[in-house]
Amino acid sequence: MVPSSAAREGASPDEAELGYRLRKSAWGKGYATEGSRALIRKGFTEFGVRRVVAETMAVNLASRRVMEKAGLTLVRSFHRPWPYPIEGDDLGDVEYALNRADWERQDRTGHC
Ligand SMILES: CC(C)(COP(=O)(O)OP(=O)(O)OC[C@H]1O[C@@H](n2cnc3c(N)ncnc32)[C@H](O)[C@@H]1OP(=O)(O)O)[C@@H](O)C(=O)NCCC(=O)NCCS
Repeated sequence: MVPSSAAREGASPDEAELGYRLRKSAWGKGYATEGSRALIRKGFTEFGVRRVVAETMAVNLASRRVMEKAGLTLVRSFHRPWPYPIEGDDLGDVEYALNRADWERQDRTGHC
């Protein structure tokens, strides 16, 4: 997780961007979800983060599922120019987000 301002000009200083990449042999064991939840908790409770965002290709269903299981919800779909074609890029990208108040609510009710 990195400050959004490190990746995007004009991003709010209390916003953080979540990302993950695991080696293939580790896929499907819940590690990305577990790691994401732990980072989100740390960000909200220790680092003064107020909003967590994450982006992925629309076709990356595993990544989208991790975002959902970590409590993020879909904000928007969009297209960004790529310097070279990637399979599925015609369907664009998606942005998910979670703010601290919603995370606290989910945490209280045991949803994340
Ligand atoms: C995306 C990635 C991090 C997921 O890691 P992971 O540890 O396997 O994720 P988890 O096990 O925590 O959860 C994966 C979820 O996606 C689901 N899933 C996996 N492949 C899927 C598919 N093709 N369609 C729908 N759901 C899928 C799993 O069933 C699981 O959901 P469930 O617990 O409800 O069953 C891993 O696949 C990866 O590193 N991919 C390459 C890099 C990448 O795509 N990074 C994201 C770029 S933004």
